[in-house]
Amino acid sequence: MRTQIAAANWKMNLKYQQGEKLLDEILDTKLLLKDHQKVIFAVPFPYLIMARSEVSEEKNYHAAAQNCHHKKSGAFTGEVSAEMIHSLNISYCIVGHSERREFFSESNAVLAEKINLCLENFITPVFCCGEALKIREAGTQNDFVALQLKESLFHLTPGQVSSVIIAYEPIWAIGTGKTATTEQAQEMHAHLRSVIAGQYGDELANQISILYGGSVKANNAKELFSCPDVDGGLVGGASLVSAEFIEIIRSLKP
Ligand code: 13P
Repeated sequence: MRTQIAAANWKMNLKYQQGEKLLDEILDTKLLLKDHQKVIFAVPFPYLIMARSEVSEEKNYHAAAQNCHHKKSGAFTGEVSAEMIHSLNISYCIVGHSERREFFSESNAVLAEKINLCLENFITPVFCCGEALKIREAGTQNDFVALQLKESLFHLTPGQVSSVIIAYEPIWAIGTGKTATTEQAQEMHAHLRSVIAGQYGDELANQISILYGGSVKANNAKELFSCPDVDGGLVGGASLVSAEFIEIIRSLKP
């Protein structure tokens, strides 16, 4: 079975002590993960070492960065490079979240540079794609997300692309409480997989984990994750509440 992943994206939320308490509460429940399951906590940069040490004894639990800069190093005050993240022994990083695309004008081309730097530094990128409401209403969402994949990922070799995790996050479902239906999620995930298959073949496409993000909660995770092409979720708001996120982890395909 493909790797099934519950990924928490804390965004710019929680003070350090609150983050530490949240991780304690989640990890104290001792949810044992199977070989094909993973839990990833994408935390703010200053919390990475704390999160890494919290999960260090737990099988298949990992800490992740939420972003990295698109240049290797240099005079970019306030930025954090993929190499720095790697030097902390962190091996996951979200790339191309819609909030970065919107508020920090990150283009598909810039995201391709971030993907390259992550892979050069042995970091698995969690690459986000997804359309805004206007695009969904115009019915052009399939072409839109295909272009996001093409322009940010399709320069990679098959070996490189096979280590990328994809997260489909329709912007209209993020933080709105409005989840994609299971039909919408399954249809888009199957489409993304077919776009990857078109470039790299079926075998590789079938290995890639594609997560759904956008108002995933304890009460809808199981239904969403049961879709054949949905391999878990990237969770914002509900990942800040231990009981919610614990239930979301429990909803991964067994
Ligand atoms: P919500 O789960 O709060 O809708 O956020 C989704 C998201 O953006 C995760 O990256």
